[in-house]
Amino acid sequence: MAAALLLLLQLDAAGGWGTVTYSYKGRNPDGSFRVDFRDRATYDGCQYSRYQTCSTGNCGLVTNQQRGITDRSTNAPQSNRQWCETETVQQRKVPTDKPFEMRASSCCWIPTRNGVSGWRFRTQVDLGSRSDTGKPNRSPDIAILPFLRVPQNCPRTYKLMSFDPDGDTVRCRYGNIRNIECSGCNQPSGFVLDQGSCSLHYRNAIANPSVFGSYKLPLQFSFLMDPPAPSCVDGLYLPRFVHPTPEDGQHINAEVNKEVEIRVRAQASHATLHDIIISGPLNITKHRSTHGDFVIRWTPGPDDVGDHYPICFAVESVIESGIYQSEMRCVLVNIGQRLIESHVTCHESSMTVEVTRSSLSGLHEDHLRLSDPSNTACNLQTNSNSTHIIAVVPLNACGTQIKEDEENLVFKNEITTVDNIHDLITRNHLLEVQFYCQYPKHGNMSQGFTAHRRNVVVWDKGFGKFTYEFEFYPDSQYRQMVVIQGCTLWRTM
Ligand SMILES: *[C@@H]1O[C@H](CO)[C@@H](O)[C@H](O)[C@H]1NC(C)=O
Ligand SMILES: *[C@@H]1O[C@H](CO)[C@@H](O)[C@H](O)[C@H]1NC(C)=O
Ligand SMILES: *[C@@H]1O[C@H](CO)[C@@H](O)[C@H](O)[C@H]1NC(C)=O
Repeated sequence: MAAALLLLLQLDAAGGWGTVTYSYKGRNPDGSFRVDFRDRATYDGCQYSRYQTCSTGNCGLVTNQQRGITDRSTNAPQSNRQWCETETVQQRKVPTDKPFEMRASSCCWIPTRNGVSGWRFRTQVDLGSRSDTGKPNRSPDIAILPFLRVPQNCPRTYKLMSFDPDGDTVRCRYGNIRNIECSGCNQPSGFVLDQGSCSLHYRNAIANPSVFGSYKLPLQFSFLMDPPAPSCVDGLYLPRFVHPTPEDGQHINAEVNKEVEIRVRAQASHATLHDIIISGPLNITKHRSTHGDFVIRWTPGPDDVGDHYPICFAVESVIESGIYQSEMRCVLVNIGQRLIESHVTCHESSMTVEVTRSSLSGLHEDHLRLSDPSNTACNLQTNSNSTHIIAVVPLNACGTQIKEDEENLVFKNEITTVDNIHDLITRNHLLEVQFYCQYPKHGNMSQGFTAHRRNVVVWDKGFGKFTYEFEFYPDSQYRQMVVIQGCTLWRTM
């Protein structure tokens, strides 16, 4: 493949930080190029933002811009009690495919140990066609959490998420062009950067707890050295990830207009799990379930087809004044064309899923089943017709699982493939249609909502049989008030 891309990493500056990536979205009718920029920035307040200026070439015009908060926390060190990450999504109309460069700079974030207060940032764009793909270069996806922290005595390795859609090798290096790539360019001791794997190793060599700003063009982050932890073993003070948290680097396939859900579970026996910090595309949300799991949700839009979005997360625990961060994990969400045509309708006591047969490439319902097909009511043949596989799934049977967060009750099930319908163990996950119905826990009192409780026996994996009480809207308005959502993921192995 083509030449290696060089990213810069500089453990150096502060003043707000972030990443800038761009993606080519095709030609406009007038022959100009459409390029979307995503500028993710972190400041010590949500009101700040940075301004990009065109430094070289013709950067075109901004045709649309949206800005929103992706995550914020009040867990920052004393000198700076909060941080706020925002993302600005900007569409530009660029007249030619000639290279151009944009720069941004800012100053004055928290004081850093390496004594640098300003930062510099530059993004180079070349829309010329590559000889191998015949399309403009795409920028590599790189990601890291904006705010990393580690106890001073605990060595740790951060593997920066790096993925190049054109298949180029992504390498990392420290910034070294003073005042362009970095404002100071000093590298603090205690860190080793493996340029080939983009891994940053921290080796507890620094004397006092302190904050480092750092940046990489076009990726920047800040690093906080906390006082020593009583133990560096994961799962005691530092949270440890457990199933079903996705592995670092895992790819998740997603479809346009279908919500992607990432469930994160962590354990810390000597501390209390406090929060999750995330970094991901605009409109990403985080929630906490009543079982203590964290849930990250995001819905790709029609413009996202063919794009890849990294999402990074870490869980923080607290005990007394200590805050301990887990390792960081990043996953890559690949947005594909809608492969499976499915539609989910939520009813008071069941969910109906209709899957278009033609989108299933010849799979017959004999080889498809719900999570628990032992009950005949769960047989997919019962309701299917010649064009659609139809499952009418009771909320309390067929392996439906119930999950709960602050706002909603969520009932989930899935259609998966099996070699033989009589096998209870799914051997061959050729296809996996996961779906769920989400019901808000609180009604709208002003519309005359009266709490109506009924008991439903639900079998929930890991919790056994229990009786759950929940509220449903009792009248015809119910249908308008429930949040109807379906989610389809597919996987080929
Ligand atoms: C974010 O959500 C808003 C409101 O739903 C929507 O209008 C906007 O297009 C979304 N932006 C992106 C970049 O997904
Ligand atoms: C099969 O069921 C679906 C969903 O109810 C319906 O839209 C479709 O028309 C039905 N097809 C036939 C051939 O009856
Ligand atoms: C409740 O319903 C009323 C009347 O339809 C509406 O004006 C109000 O915004 C709703 N409140 C909420 C919280 O949805």
